[in-house]
Amino acid sequence: MSKTNTAPANATDSSLHVTVPGSDTAVDLAVTDGAIRATDLRKIPAGDGALLSYDPAFLNTASCRSAITFIDGDKGILRYRGYPIEQLAGKASFLEVAWLLRHGELPTQGEYDTWVHDITYHTYVHENVKTFLQGFRYDAHPMSMLCSAVAALSSFYPSAKNIHDPEERNLAIIRLIAKLPTLAAFAYRHIKGLPFVYPDNDLSYVENFLSMVARMTEPQYEARPVFTRATEILFILHADHEQNCSTNAVRAVGSSHVDPFSAVAAGIAALYGPLHGGANEAVLRMIQDIGNVKNVPAFIEEVKSGKGSSRLMGFGHRVYKSYDPRARIVKALADEVFKEVGVDKDLEIALELERIALSDDYFVSRKLYPNVDFYTGMIYRSMKFPMDFFTVLFAIARTAGWLAQWEEMLLDKEQKIARPRQIYVGPGERPYAGTLKY
Ligand code: MLT
Repeated sequence: MSKTNTAPANATDSSLHVTVPGSDTAVDLAVTDGAIRATDLRKIPAGDGALLSYDPAFLNTASCRSAITFIDGDKGILRYRGYPIEQLAGKASFLEVAWLLRHGELPTQGEYDTWVHDITYHTYVHENVKTFLQGFRYDAHPMSMLCSAVAALSSFYPSAKNIHDPEERNLAIIRLIAKLPTLAAFAYRHIKGLPFVYPDNDLSYVENFLSMVARMTEPQYEARPVFTRATEILFILHADHEQNCSTNAVRAVGSSHVDPFSAVAAGIAALYGPLHGGANEAVLRMIQDIGNVKNVPAFIEEVKSGKGSSRLMGFGHRVYKSYDPRARIVKALADEVFKEVGVDKDLEIALELERIALSDDYFVSRKLYPNVDFYTGMIYRSMKFPMDFFTVLFAIARTAGWLAQWEEMLLDKEQKIARPRQIYVGPGERPYAGTLKY
């Protein structure tokens, strides 16, 4: 969490005085922006060498300085470049937010028009992309298809490896943001056994995506306004979330100076996991397992007792300790969508789970409130997206954040190839004593 991101860069707040018991070593470690530098720990002797910090899963380690997204998990605050998420989600377009994330300021009208134009005119993919997508099995997971397709794009645009050339970076970023919806929609159509629909460059970013997903024989596809609005808002909410698992993957892979198509493919792979982008799919599966609203109390009791295999998905969050601010926005959006499409059996279960979790002391005291994944799955389901496509929708939006973070990492003089240390716990030296015959 970057709680101190308003502090001037490199401001020394204080220092931490460390004395080493049994020796006369005393070290002062500078505390800057609320953090000590892990490399300063090398000044402190430990064992045969110097002190290391050990932090599996980065629970208390900042890996970078970032000016992109601010989260205060205790207060439930999320801002992109200083702008509250509630204001952006209500007023901005996804492409305006994508620009903001990358450039740090809102675009002027001229900048925005050029940005939208450039993205719109890079929505097409090479015809060979269609051919290899058709080679996937009919039941391939769309995240697998998307990850492979984005990685493959690196071979279509080899000059993207010139990551130190700002023009090449700009072109690769435009291509990725432009082509992600096309690849995602192609994956969708392949699984459904439907012909691919080419981009319609007369439509907005979101409308075009929905058109490539759903258009049949009509000359121009018109999505239901409530679905266009919901998708635009969900894309904004998912666009960035500071150093989450997939962003960390993009930064780590990108730190080797590979091209951005390959780095974003790594982000998609990370997002695919059920603990990350797959979480809203897991919520829907949990609801289907509950099966009926009358089974909710028994399910809740099982979760509370800790016995059995029932897990409450879509509640609580690693960084938000009071409330996920995105969930509040999505909940209001969900109400809007459900008013139009109606409430079915699964939705009734979800609403009952939500009601109990928000009123039962067990959940309230543990701060297990519904997070963004709880509602997004419900909305996507109302839009008739198949469950395994939810994470793909997340990936389209997060591409904007990944690329802003990737470029920030590249331009950050302090960054080097990501290469953590380890604490070796294996055997000491021993002679080879193999008995195999070759
Ligand atoms: C995200 O938006 O990436 C998720 O909430 C996960 C996270 O931030 O760790």
